[in-house]
Amino acid sequence: MARAPEPTGRPDGVWSANVARTESGELAVAGVPVTQIAGEFGTPTYILDEADMRARARAWKNAMDAAFAPLAGADVYYAGKAFLSKAVARWMAKEGLNIDSASEGELRTALSAGVPGSRIGLHGNNKSDAEITLALECGSAHIVVDSLPEIEQVARIARAAGTRAPVYVRLTTGVHAGGHDFIQTAHEDQKFGLSVTTGAAQEAISRIAANPALSLIGLHSHIGSQILAADGFAQAARAVLDVRAWAAGQGIEITEVDLGGGYGVRYTDADAVPPAPEEFARVLAAAVSEHVAQTGLRPPRVSIEPGRSIVAPAMMTLYTVGTIKDVATDSGPRRYVSVDGGMSDNLRPALYGAQYTALVANRLVEGEEARCRVVGKHCESGDIVVHDVALPPLAAGDLLAVPVTGAYGRSMGSNYNMLPRPGVVSVRDGHCRVILRRETIEDQLALDVG
Ligand code: LLP
Repeated sequence: MARAPEPTGRPDGVWSANVARTESGELAVAGVPVTQIAGEFGTPTYILDEADMRARARAWKNAMDAAFAPLAGADVYYAGKAFLSKAVARWMAKEGLNIDSASEGELRTALSAGVPGSRIGLHGNNKSDAEITLALECGSAHIVVDSLPEIEQVARIARAAGTRAPVYVRLTTGVHAGGHDFIQTAHEDQKFGLSVTTGAAQEAISRIAANPALSLIGLHSHIGSQILAADGFAQAARAVLDVRAWAAGQGIEITEVDLGGGYGVRYTDADAVPPAPEEFARVLAAAVSEHVAQTGLRPPRVSIEPGRSIVAPAMMTLYTVGTIKDVATDSGPRRYVSVDGGMSDNLRPALYGAQYTALVANRLVEGEEARCRVVGKHCESGDIVVHDVALPPLAAGDLLAVPVTGAYGRSMGSNYNMLPRPGVVSVRDGHCRVILRRETIEDQLALDVG
């Protein structure tokens, strides 16, 4: 029966750096007690530790800059799909990162935060004409081509706009790694990218190089997500660089390489501690420098796209406890602790069987711990927030904090059972503010035109 670790302030803990217990025993984020946040903003609420998120972004940027300084430099694109808002886009840009977008919504959010198009990339396996048009209009850094038909689609739109589209080709290298099957992305039998094995990738490179409406600037690979070891990234880097060398042999010079995101985090203290950004950056730079030494090619400019590792540990979800029910199971008694959110604010346990942990957040509770399952308020038995956690005696009205919910929580949220999606409150130096307001029932009714 696993108990949640207490906050330590360490970057490899499950709580963000500025979470601590106050003298009265409740949790506080950057000096703001959680009872104050619950009182002002209600629950459920996502609480984002701004300084922690920015420090994680900066750590990636500094690590990549340092490792690739002897080569051709590096860029870090924050993967907006993990969690994006205008404030987050602004912070990332201020920390020197670019933004990876995968839809018109993500692209517009970054643009409306003032991030220049030249610092935003566009992904997607089924881009609309509107998305490609917007990317070209804003001078997007690159459009990552994901299929053969997309080549002509991008070229057609670029021709009509009288411009040349800067494109990357997304490669399926056969290297895959990561957590659940659904988040592995570089094996053959899935929807992303162009296969190196079948020659589809090489075909795409040749067609793009021959198309005057397109400018082939890079190759891209993303091998999966929640990866806790560096070796898969090095293997993928070599595979991408081999394709770049093949292209060079055809007289096609490709100056950039993007090695994707996928760097894992700890959700509970049962998870291994992932390598630090410096270690990932060192392994990537070693793979690149070895390859260029072997081939004699000029080093490419290298980018990566971390999302989860920047935002997941920086955010927690604060819930209020409601109904508590003791149930007899084949494996012994289990206490079901219901909270006021659930699979609509964190789909990951239901979708991937993801493990989380939880602490009573409003007070330090004495007493014998029970084997608990934290569940949501949705009409579905798979609506689980934390599968298994030891909690002390608690009561309706207590606050429960679930750490590491910053990535793919709010961004994969839904309105199931017509629950309004929670807001995001950011906290820094003793001050908190809403960066994404809570939805209301009125917001939902406003869409219902009768
Ligand atoms: N770049 C590309 C092309 C991607 O597809 C992704 C994630 C990333 C970057 C960022 O990966 P990250 O560093 O955040 O792992 N909903 C799943 C994760 C899906 C990841 C999709 N692509 C989850 O909750 O685990």
